[in-house]
Amino acid sequence: MTLNLQTWPEPIVRVQSLSESGIFKIPETYIKPPSQRPSLNQSKPSISPDSTRINIPVIDISGLFSAEASLHADTLDLIGSACRDWGFFQAVNHGVPVEMLRNTRETWREFFHLRMEEKQVYANSPVTYEGYGSRLGIEKGAKLDWGDYFFLNCFPESIRDMEKWPRDPVFCREYSQEMVKLGGKLMRALSLILGLKENHLQDAFGGEDFTACLRVNFYPKCPQPDLTLGLSSHSDPGGMTFLYPDENVPGLQVRRGEMWVTVETVPNAIIVNIGDQIQVLSNGRMKSVDHRVMVNSEKERVSMAYFYNPKGDIYIEPVKEFLAKEKLKPLYPRMTYNEYRLFIRMNGPRGKSQVESHKSPN
Ligand code: OGA
Ligand code: NI
Repeated sequence: MTLNLQTWPEPIVRVQSLSESGIFKIPETYIKPPSQRPSLNQSKPSISPDSTRINIPVIDISGLFSAEASLHADTLDLIGSACRDWGFFQAVNHGVPVEMLRNTRETWREFFHLRMEEKQVYANSPVTYEGYGSRLGIEKGAKLDWGDYFFLNCFPESIRDMEKWPRDPVFCREYSQEMVKLGGKLMRALSLILGLKENHLQDAFGGEDFTACLRVNFYPKCPQPDLTLGLSSHSDPGGMTFLYPDENVPGLQVRRGEMWVTVETVPNAIIVNIGDQIQVLSNGRMKSVDHRVMVNSEKERVSMAYFYNPKGDIYIEPVKEFLAKEKLKPLYPRMTYNEYRLFIRMNGPRGKSQVESHKSPN
């Protein structure tokens, strides 16, 4: 099979333009089969049998920076169980300046509200995906998601396509540096949780040669939100993701068994989730969980997803020391991250981590 990875299979339509055109019905291309549509009762806060609201765990991670050993250990326990049971948590007291986070997101919002001609300068292609985009995957006739995005390679700096970086990139640099710092901290924490030396996971990612990229998601208002999704169900293919959501507009849902749990965001939190590569390294102890995004008819939504990933050409496999300690057999074959991404691009929908709709290079 040969796939043309150079160009999009169909002319690109900006979802934002569709939204702003005042249509009352969305085009067929965006209408999902009934089984994938967000059902109405799931878009309300999920209620458990004892009528408390279900939400992903909220964890104060300041204990990670504490010299107090018991506090540090308690925090690791909380993060460990969240990564095992949910694959997701909301980190509060994370040490990242929240003013900066908010400003960065609002600067991106301004980008999406520029005139179309100005945005088109940054239009992307499926070769690297960098820039302004409106679809993931290159399958002709595929159902599309109700969202536009901006994708940037952040680390190593040498792979940045400066043509695609914003003209005044300072705001994005600081944000990126802070996310990398947070990534380093959490990589150390996850290593300790798995009973490994603090640097183990970072070394497995290629040490200082890890990679990172950013996707800013823009979900315009949608006249028929019940029929579509802003982002189809997927798991993140990389290491770990840090999501700064739009605190005023819910939309993210996380799979919990047969249920979709709508995340209720806590002010100033960063949503952390495990990607496929850490699931592999931890031999499934930490889970990369399916999630998706709903849209709505009242409000647009902007989110920033920062992906902390391994170096592309290094083998990722279940950590031998962890297998030995826990007396486990490896559940996954070894594969480089580059191979894994290609696998996703070529094989189409096949279970969780290879959904058609998420053939992005992150
Ligand atoms: C992603 C993602 C969720 C959101 O970009 O991979 O899952 O809330 N985004 O936008
Ligand atoms: Ni995601």
